[in-house]
Amino acid sequence: MSIVITGNPGVGKHTITKKISQKLNFPIIDINTLAKESEVIEKQENTNDVDTTKLANIVKKIELNEKIIVGHLAPYVIEKNQVKLVIILRRNPYQLETVYKERNYSEEKIKENIGSEILGVITHDTMEKFEEKAFQIDVSEKNIEQVVEKVLQVISKKENNEQVDWLDLVTKNNDLEKFFTH
Ligand SMILES: Nc1ncnc2c1ncn2[C@@H]1O[C@H](COP(=O)(O)OP(=O)(O)OP(=O)(O)O)[C@@H](O)[C@H]1O
Ligand SMILES: [Mg+2]
Repeated sequence: MSIVITGNPGVGKHTITKKISQKLNFPIIDINTLAKESEVIEKQENTNDVDTTKLANIVKKIELNEKIIVGHLAPYVIEKNQVKLVIILRRNPYQLETVYKERNYSEEKIKENIGSEILGVITHDTMEKFEEKAFQIDVSEKNIEQVVEKVLQVISKKENNEQVDWLDLVTKNNDLEKFFTH
């Protein structure tokens, strides 16, 4: 059994991964750490771009069984047959905005990351790649313990795929312009 935890920045991936790692006694493989150690990061003007093709080749050689793998790049660097289950954490964009402001992200970075969560970019790519192995959990109304509980439920029963539609919520709140104009 190998489990992947993915989702946008700030959804709680690392917080939840640490807890699950303790519960199952599975070591953590952090995709970001791996990228740094493997020197597959190309420094751009404002960002660090990971060469996902190179990183995927490195990940291919790693034994993922009895491990928990964490990172937003999961759908781009892990093969479907390498893992048993992929959990996508989803979080209300208004909560993410608070997290990003606390992290002092720039206005541009905030909009980019919130826009990506609203549109469900990582979710789309993860569902497409891992298909029946991928499950969403909406963490917004759950505390850390409740999210951990939900993850364990999904692991044991493989059910409870939660539906998430931030676009509907943001449209109803008349906030499309707020998040999608520059
Ligand atoms: N279920 C939860 N309820 C409330 N707060 C949470 C929950 N899960 C995580 N948090 C808080 O949200 C913040 C972001 O969590 P965390 O750093 O684990 O996210 P992440 O997805 O790993 O982010 P990144 O991709 O940038 O590494 C932290 O302050 C964490 O304590
Ligand atoms: Mg993190």
